[in-house]
Amino acid sequence: MGPTCGALGRRRSSPLNDPMTVSDWWNRTRYSLYAPVYDWVAKPLARGRQRAIERLDLERGDRVLILGCGPGSDLDYLPEGVSVTAVDLSPAMIRRTEARAETLGVDVDARVGDARDLPFGDDTFDAVLLHLVLSVVPGAEQVATEADRVLAPDGRASIYDKFVPEGESPSLLRRALNPVTRFLFSDVTKQLGALLAETTLEVSDRESFLGGVYTVTVARLANSEETGEANRESSVSQRNR
Ligand SMILES: C[S@@+](CC[C@H](N)C(=O)[O-])C[C@H]1O[C@@H](n2cnc3c(N)ncnc32)[C@H](O)[C@@H]1O
Repeated sequence: MGPTCGALGRRRSSPLNDPMTVSDWWNRTRYSLYAPVYDWVAKPLARGRQRAIERLDLERGDRVLILGCGPGSDLDYLPEGVSVTAVDLSPAMIRRTEARAETLGVDVDARVGDARDLPFGDDTFDAVLLHLVLSVVPGAEQVATEADRVLAPDGRASIYDKFVPEGESPSLLRRALNPVTRFLFSDVTKQLGALLAETTLEVSDRESFLGGVYTVTVARLANSEETGEANRESSVSQRNR
């Protein structure tokens, strides 16, 4: 198993060293339980995952960070020669990622850690993969903020998840199903715009999968105050609709 994320720079102290919240404990427990069957259950999501990674146009030497990496399913689609770091709250998932990396013959720095509190310096990565994780983590805005912080100036994030379409409120069906889906897997009432509100990440590309339930989004680091401001304004206008 990889090391637990350690302290660095301007991070808060790691929540993994603090008593865990019930929702983090439940996340770690359920995803550890799902680890042996995760690949099988997530098979229908493979096409979107592959497309998400293609859209990043990764090149040899790029530094890629996978947040909430699960069993490392993304590794199957990464091009040769990129350097990979992976973080997950569940030690069982990290063990699976390490085993997959070994099978594929790739080097991966896999660590148990919290995607909301990363042990990496600013501008460290060329790409961050946020696949099926923002809908799972409570306080996912902080995951987006951390992704924003660790991305290098030309960096981009790939976001693959099931969000409420921009400009719409969660439907009655989503709201009715959410207590069950949130308990078992993930929240189906989140909106990407609101999650990016405090970042300088700007959506540059979007594609739908599985009947529009899932979207693949590339967000680029605009690295400007205006983008942060524009994201906040768009999130406020979404909330007021
Ligand atoms: C639905 S799975 C997605 C796995 C993988 N990214 C994929 O595309 O299949 C969500 C993952 O997020 C992890 N997770 C939950 N909370 C986390 C946190 N605070 N920090 C890091 N990983 C977390 C879970 O352990 C689980 O492996």
